[in-house]
Amino acid sequence: MTIQLNQFLHSRKQIIENALPSYIEKLQAPHSLKAAMRYSLEAGGKRLRPILVLALLHTYKQSEDLGIATACAVEMIHTYSLIHDDLPCMDDDDLRRGKPTNHKVFGEALAVLAGDGLLTQSFSLIVNDQLLPADKKLRIVSELVNAAGAEGMVGGQVSDMEGEVKKLTLSELQSIHENKTAKLLGFSIISGAILAGAPEEDIDNLRKFAYHLGIAFQIRDDILDIEGNQMILGKPVGSDTINEKTTYPSILTMQGAKEKLNDHIDFAKEILNNLSVRSELLYQMCDLMANRDH
Ligand code: IPE
Ligand code: IPE
Ligand code: MG
Ligand code: MG
Ligand code: MG
Repeated sequence: MTIQLNQFLHSRKQIIENALPSYIEKLQAPHSLKAAMRYSLEAGGKRLRPILVLALLHTYKQSEDLGIATACAVEMIHTYSLIHDDLPCMDDDDLRRGKPTNHKVFGEALAVLAGDGLLTQSFSLIVNDQLLPADKKLRIVSELVNAAGAEGMVGGQVSDMEGEVKKLTLSELQSIHENKTAKLLGFSIISGAILAGAPEEDIDNLRKFAYHLGIAFQIRDDILDIEGNQMILGKPVGSDTINEKTTYPSILTMQGAKEKLNDHIDFAKEILNNLSVRSELLYQMCDLMANRDH
């Protein structure tokens, strides 16, 4: 029986949001730090990265309980990346997930440290997960380091920052989108597949799938920065223009960016046909990424 996408998104978001605060609450840490960490973590957000971890377990018909800690870990890293991305020294944005950004509420120093706290803590969720064997933990931590660190999201954020003002080529921009966004989104897919015990050939294909899905996700983000609605997005529209970022619409025009997005979604869907399992849910998630309004 196929599950409806909306039902899956809604129910799994609830599971993640119930689990997240417990990881912060039990920390022996300054109250102010825990408050700043919880503020951004509980501000909302679509929770797409943790949901993807569970979606892979669902696709391979394995218990989703196996993915809760890893799912919360990736959401913590993503949330830290948003706190830092919004700082005055970076994109300098005042609104995130429909609320004032972390530094607007807690000040810049605590915002930086709340991000540091979420980043570091995320690894402890995986390492201390009682449900996982040591070899899987090690493999997942290694995937997370590659996706989130200097060779992934952090490196991508630096290239994104250094690309401000100057005009980038499409291939330079594609590489920035791959590093700053696609790799962490890809981590959710790959870690879910590892947890589910998916065949290695499927994991190779899922890596290619994640690349196209992740690029498409960031192209949609660039498009929404121009034609999105701030009330629905929960973050400012026009931030890229103010910061003179090169984006897909700025290089290809809005029409060209939308075509490129659809090309990546088509490639992603094609790759799903090569998996050893039926994957309606992942197929539906491609359409969600392509058409989302927030
Ligand atoms: C925003 O990610 C940052 C990007 C990588 C484009 P999301 O659009 O997933 O943000 P939330 O988690 O729903 O707030
Ligand atoms: C940031 O890209 C991606 C991250 C790694 C946080 P953006 O700067 O475009 O993300 P938004 O639009 O502020 O969410
Ligand atoms: Mg940014
Ligand atoms: Mg930003
Ligand atoms: Mg953006």
